[in-house]
Amino acid sequence: MTTAVALAVALAGAVPAAAAVGPGVARAPAPPPSFARDVAPILDHWCVSCHGEKEDQGGLRLDSYEAALKGGDDGPVLVPGQPQNSQLVAQVERRFRPPMPPKKRLPRDPIATIRAWIAAGASP
Ligand code: HEC
Repeated sequence: MTTAVALAVALAGAVPAAAAVGPGVARAPAPPPSFARDVAPILDHWCVSCHGEKEDQGGLRLDSYEAALKGGDDGPVLVPGQPQNSQLVAQVERRFRPPMPPKKRLPRDPIATIRAWIAAGASP
């Protein structure tokens, strides 16, 4: 028996077992985005050089969950559950001045991740 055939036999044997679990059980739903896992890497890359330990432009630090929720000189920059009312989102989408980051443009995927995180309640 070749390896390929052995594998096919093994897979064929596995199918009824998986099917017995029932539809929808095999794959768990994606967990809501979290700050630590999904958002912090984006902010570290794009924002923390100006909003971190060395510089806190606008009084805003984005290098920890607590700091990001606290906001800047003018108070909170995001509203959990309401990306449409979050200044931070408006700035990365360049709908609110000054746009953030000021010169580079945040790509679409990280913007979508930040939006989804806030929409889901901005959890740690
Ligand atoms: C090159 C430096 C630089 C980078 C990089 C940068 N910012 Fe800023 N940011 C600033 C400056 C300067 C201000 C203050 C602008 C002002 O007060 O007019 C500011 C202000 C802000 C404010 C408003 C703070 C307040 O309380 O009014 C938000 C929100 C913000 N930045 C988010 C971000 C996000 C999110 C990123 C990354 C995607 C980012 N910034 C990247 C320089 C930067």
